[in-house]
Order: sequence, then structure tokens, then C-alpha cells
Amino acid sequence: MHAQVEEQTGEPHPWEQIRSLPEVTVEAGQLIDCTFLTVEEVEVVAVPIAPAVEDGDDLQPRHGTVDAAVRYGLDFAELAHRAKLTGRAGEAHVIDLPRPHKRSAELAWAGLPERVILLGVGTGDDRALRRAGAALAKATRGCERVLTTVAGATAQSNGAAFVEGYLLGSYTQPSQAAGADDVQPAQNLTMLGDHSDHMVQFAQTAARATWLARNLTNAPSNFKNPQWFVQQAEKFAAAAGLETKTWDETALATDGFGGILAVGAGSASAPRLMTVSYTPDGAAGPGVKPQHVVIVGKGITYDTGGISIKPRLAMVPMKTDMAGAAVALAAVLAAHEAEVPHRVTAVLPLAENHFGADSYRPSDVLTMFNGTTVEVSNTDAEGRLVLADALAYAAAELDPDILIDVATLTGAASVGLGKGHAALFSTDSELIAVTQAAAVTTGEHVWHMPLVAEYSSALDSPFADLSHVPHNSPGGGAITAALFLQQFVSDRRWMHLDIAGPARASADKHEVTAGATGYGARLLLQLLRQL
Ligand code: BES
Ligand code: MN
Ligand code: ZN
Repeated sequence: MHAQVEEQTGEPHPWEQIRSLPEVTVEAGQLIDCTFLTVEEVEVVAVPIAPAVEDGDDLQPRHGTVDAAVRYGLDFAELAHRAKLTGRAGEAHVIDLPRPHKRSAELAWAGLPERVILLGVGTGDDRALRRAGAALAKATRGCERVLTTVAGATAQSNGAAFVEGYLLGSYTQPSQAAGADDVQPAQNLTMLGDHSDHMVQFAQTAARATWLARNLTNAPSNFKNPQWFVQQAEKFAAAAGLETKTWDETALATDGFGGILAVGAGSASAPRLMTVSYTPDGAAGPGVKPQHVVIVGKGITYDTGGISIKPRLAMVPMKTDMAGAAVALAAVLAAHEAEVPHRVTAVLPLAENHFGADSYRPSDVLTMFNGTTVEVSNTDAEGRLVLADALAYAAAELDPDILIDVATLTGAASVGLGKGHAALFSTDSELIAVTQAAAVTTGEHVWHMPLVAEYSSALDSPFADLSHVPHNSPGGGAITAALFLQQFVSDRRWMHLDIAGPARASADKHEVTAGATGYGARLLLQLLRQL
């Protein structure tokens, strides 16, 4: 085995440091008498506007907008009308105020921040405020300190959604291009109004988890082989005081992880299996029954397809095929940070699906962790093999009350649902309902899919207990993949999230940034909070 990861010297590599989130502070008070609304202290002030109630009406000012108009001596309503603003969430109208020529005039806004942003907040619900926050982050790149009155007089959840949107929208991918870091997001957001520190922490925990998942998933695969991922996870776990356990290739063979070993066999970088566990300190509050939630995440650090090699273009995005593992790791770290009352264990099967002299082949028969034999039909269906081992291990050894897996598993899931929804499979109606509710809260959409029992026969094999890909496919590739996984979860409460669609985005859109999206980190955190 030769190490593909370059020797690290001095500064940590861009993909090894979680860049720090912008700082968020809360200040009580109103804009009308705010003493630090000065050009020295604040570069930008952002005030909210909402759509007109009826066509032809003026846009509606929201909290702080009238105060701003008074302090600046400017008719923002007229300005919004002239600029044909709509007030919809995600609209950010930047007004860069001029300075007088020499000292020819005294301007009403002298001494005040020179940039005002009219920020559309739409309906003012959480989704709209998340979008408004993201729009503000994008409109203030390169600035230092941003002050806003948005959500200054609304419910706590609204404030958290706005801050979360700001933090998510300010993420940029680490880059190795010369000069790429020149335009960074504004490093300080001040929330003026009726806010609590708790509200900010809530949003920060969720955003930090998403940033971590994005960073790990965006890292190129010449850095993130399985051992690199283990090192990263160990570093974060150690900082949080979480327990870890790692299997190298020898230990994987001793314990009979036939799926993980087969998938990793073609790569110069050997596979790993890792667990990261969080155990809550205190007792759970009233009405909460503590659960052990195990989250298995697909960790294919690159998916060439193996011997059943992928076409050229389909392969390019496959550095993101460990998004599930990144999200599972982020979720357990976030659970610790948020002090959720449940035990959480992330189980991370990590392998590179490459081709090489030792690659597994179509027609091989594997023996999985639980003794089930599997006929390999297509080495590009590697995800279900590593997940099967990890699920079987979790079901047998970790005694989970709830077993969840997250995986960029099938192109079919994104053909069916597009890139906006994850495919959700489960037989547990309560788990489905809680997850659907959590998805509404975080804006990470799920769609409940059927585990069609009649399709199971497609997984019959003449040579083994199971064929891992249907011989005569009934269609529904995401469904047959889920049916395969179901064979490995015993009688546990189980849910499978196929995130092949939403794990990656081709362009920025509101709080979702181009490249790895970190989809699922906030959803799982929210789910843990609601259990
Ligand atoms: N990692 C892919 C699934 C994928 C495809 C994720 C596109 C994100 C975008 C997975 O390992 C895979 O190759 N699945 C095959 C399964 C097939 C061979 C049964 C697929 O979906 O084509
Ligand atoms: Mn594949
Ligand atoms: Zn894959």
C-alpha cells in the first residue's frame, strides 16, 4: 500500500481546517437610537421589506426600516418602488450612498454606514428568512461588519432561521487557486433587536455541522482516502471528547467485513471502518425517552465504478460519494454540541471504489459481516455493499433503538425526485413522520418512497443468498437498493435516506451552495432534537 496523501508540513491544508464561521453577535435596542450606527463601527446596515399586500400598493416596511428612513433622511419606500423591488425572500437591493463633493453639501446620512441593503423577507416565515439571510451573506462579501434589524421583533425560530441562512450562504469552497481567498464573507453579523444568545448558538451549531460536511465532501480525492477521513474524524472527535473505534484492513478481515474489503480491494488506499460515539452527560428532560440512534454513512472516498467502470462524465462528481459519512460525522459532533439527550453513534464504512489488480469482479460471491452471501453483479453498486456490512454490524453489536443510513446511493433516486429531495425509505411510520417534520423545519426536503415487497425477488441469486443488483430489473433502482439494505437491519427500527440528488448542487441557490451541499446534517440534528 502506498500513501496517496501528500506529506503535510507546516500549515494545515485548506481541506483539513474547518474554516471559522462568521461571528454573530446580538445587541438589544432599536435602530432609531442605536449609538453604533456609525461608519466607523458598521459598514453595512440591512433592513427588511416585504411584498405589498395588494398589487399597486407600496412594499411593506418591516422591523427597523422606518427607523432607518428617519436616520438617513431618505424615502426608502419610494426608492424601492423606483427600483421595482418585490420584497420577495432572497432579494437584496444594495444602496451605496455617495459622499458630497469636497465639502459642498452636508448630507443627511453623514457619519452613518455608507451601504444600506433593502432585504426582501417575503412571508417572513423560517424558509423566507433563511433565504434572506443567505442573500445578505452574498451581498456583503468583502465587508467587515454588517448590522441588521431583520427578525428583530419576531419569534426566536425566525431569528435562528435568518442567522442559519446567513451562515450557510456565506460558505465558500476552500480553493487552491492563487488569490482565491480575496473576497471572504463579512466576518461579523450584528443582530439588533430582541434576540437571545441561545438563538444564535442554535443556528451556529446547525451551520457548523453543514460547513463540516461540505468541507469534507468538497475535498478532492487525492487528499481524502479512507485513512485521511479517519484522521479528520479522530481530530474532531478528540476535540469534542467523543469515543472512536477504527478497523484497518487487517481488523476488517478478522471480523469478516466482506463487503467493505471487496469494495476497497482495487484501491491503493485500504478501506477502514470507524465509529464515533456521543453519550449524553445528564439525564434526559421530562417527557424524553433517551434513545440510541446509530447513523451509518456511505463513505466512498471516490467512486470510479470499479471494474464496471463509470462513463467519463458520470465519474467526475464522484469525490462527493462520501457525503453520507461526512453528514453522519457532522451529526454526531452536532449532537454533542447541542447536548441532545440521546446517545448517537456514527458508523462510517470508508473505501475507495477503484479498479486494480485486486479489484472485486462482477460474479464474485462475498460473505458479509452477518454471514449472508452476496453475488456481485455490478461493481458500481458498491455503496449497498459497504452499507450492508455496516448496518449488519450496527444491528448486531450496537443495540440501536433507531438505525438510520445516509448515502449517495443511486442515480435512480435523483432521476425520480430531482436534486431537491432525498428519497426516504422506512417501515416505521413514527420515524417517517418525525423526519418529515424535521425536513419541513430545516428546508431539507424528503420524499417517502415505498419498499415494494414484490420487487424483492429481483434480488434472488442462483449462487448466493442475494444478488446485490437485480438480474431482471423491475425498475425503481432506488427501491431495489433499499430492499437490499433492508436485508441487513434485522428487526431494528430503520430508515434509509438516499441523498444522491441533494448532496451536490451545480450552482448556488439561497442557502444551498455550489458543490457539496452538506444536505442532511441539519436534518439529522433536528431529528435528534425532536425525538
Ligand atoms: N455513487 C453512485 C450513485 C450516484 C450517482 C450518486 C449519481 C450521485 C450521483 C452509486 O455508487 C452508483 O454507482 N450507483 C449505480 C447503481 C447501479 C449500478 C445499480 C447507479 O445509480 O447507476
Ligand atoms: Mn457506484
Ligand atoms: Zn457510489
